[in-house]
Amino acid sequence: MKFFIDTANLDQIREAQDLGVLDGVTTNPSLMAKEGIKGQDNILKHYVDICNITTGDVSAEVIATDFEGMVREGEMLADLHPRIVVKIPMIKEGVKAIKYFSDKGIKTNCTLVFSAGQALLAAKAGATYVSPFVGRLDDISQDGMDLIDDIRTIYDNYGYETEILAASVRHPMHIIQCAKIGADVITAPLSAIAALLNHPLTDKGLAQFLADAKK
Ligand code: G3P
Repeated sequence: MKFFIDTANLDQIREAQDLGVLDGVTTNPSLMAKEGIKGQDNILKHYVDICNITTGDVSAEVIATDFEGMVREGEMLADLHPRIVVKIPMIKEGVKAIKYFSDKGIKTNCTLVFSAGQALLAAKAGATYVSPFVGRLDDISQDGMDLIDDIRTIYDNYGYETEILAASVRHPMHIIQCAKIGADVITAPLSAIAALLNHPLTDKGLAQFLADAKK
């Protein structure tokens, strides 16, 4: 399973990259705003900075909601760096834009996916990645993992190559559950990835080994 980090924070991306387990980065307009990145020039430069830290795919989201605008913005983003993936919302115009980019060989990430039907449409349009938001489904008392499970079944039934990129991942159990179901990728904050490291018996056992080594 691939690990992407879901942030626009360069220090956190560097830290995840240094850990040696990072396969890519996802961003969205909210994450860019959180880092105080404003204005088109600064935003474009920030995407290039991210690409220069990670060796994997970097999702950069379009703001336009009409087909022509998405194509214009997506082409500008894709021109920034070969590893930029154009992130496009699951709306009617977005599906058309995904098909357009797919036909041109430009990678896409279909975002804001909350149903199996949306994921099926994204795959048919040729999305490289589909991003079901598991945490936001949990927030409204629907099990986000049921959606990952349904998409896995549908994609496997027909051999769709679109990768399931579980997003809105909030904690380590989300990551474990996605791995058990067979999501291709998770994107998570650094805290959720780092939390996979922890076990009290590891700490206790190491303390014992170090104490015994001194004897
Ligand atoms: O990848 C999508 C993600 O950024 C949304 O996460 O926690 O805002 O639902 P969250």
